[in-house]
Amino acid sequence: MPGGYEGKRGVVLGVANRRSIAWGIAKRLADGGAELAFTYQGERIEKNVRELADSVGSRLVTACDVRSDEDVTRVFDEVADRFDGGIDFLVHSVAFAAAEDLEGRFTDTPRDRFWLALDVSAYSLVACARAAEPLMEARGGGSILTMTYLGGERAVPHYNVMGVAKATLDASVRYLAWDLGEKNIRVNAISAGPVRTLAARSIAGFPTMEAIVEERAPLHRHIDSDDVGAAAAYLLSDDARNVTGTTLYVDSGYHAMGM
Ligand SMILES: NC(=O)c1ccc[n+]([C@@H]2O[C@H](COP(=O)([O-])OP(=O)(O)OC[C@H]3O[C@@H](n4cnc5c(N)ncnc54)[C@H](O)[C@@H]3O)[C@@H](O)[C@H]2O)c1
Repeated sequence: MPGGYEGKRGVVLGVANRRSIAWGIAKRLADGGAELAFTYQGERIEKNVRELADSVGSRLVTACDVRSDEDVTRVFDEVADRFDGGIDFLVHSVAFAAAEDLEGRFTDTPRDRFWLALDVSAYSLVACARAAEPLMEARGGGSILTMTYLGGERAVPHYNVMGVAKATLDASVRYLAWDLGEKNIRVNAISAGPVRTLAARSIAGFPTMEAIVEERAPLHRHIDSDDVGAAAAYLLSDDARNVTGTTLYVDSGYHAMGM
């Protein structure tokens, strides 16, 4: 595995079940020897996340709704306690938009649900990066990774307000990279092709997105969460020590095509 993760520790936000992209990333990091803390949103998925976390010997599993500043502060306090005041990486794999806003016209998105999508899917990265900053500084630097999608750069039918949230997330990656670079903290994104997860199921027309990738991507095949895990393992490792503010596409090359 690139870099090796022995002696490294970090936090993973966004595991809901074993199909989650965050789990694909966590497995790779744990296989490489990393110590992980996990957060989950809501009691409904707590048992799932605890079982998965146990399977990789996690030292901390705690609730976090990223809309709550109190939750974010408490989580990073708990993480600091568990990991002697320092972490090396943060995986942010969290997004939400109301199902009805991933079906109809973007034009009809109401104000409250527009802000909800941006709050959960983009602002949360800023809040978590700020909370992680002192813990990474204590280790002489760190690496932050988030998950984005091409729908933030181009109009993808049905992706709608989530595309606007991803555009905000992408810009936030660049501004965070600039701010935190002086502390040797790197901030990057992976732009993944379609993967069948819980979140993906709420996007109307998701099967069409998959079919188009298979037809038009240079590699004519789908990616899975382990492909994302492999790319994440690189970006979070010391091998990527001079890589920040960028997006790595794990999408069978689909983003390179004009049609
Ligand atoms: N699946 C895909 O095709 C695909 C492609 C590109 C990017 N992504 C991105 O990957 C990331 C992970 O999604 P996934 O596909 O693994 O789906 P997933 O449903 O497994 O993960 C989404 C996670 O977001 C969490 N979440 C939602 N609202 C939250 C809140 N208020 N507070 C804390 N956590 C909250 C959920 O609990 C869940 O764990 C998302 O950012 C998604 O946009 C997914």
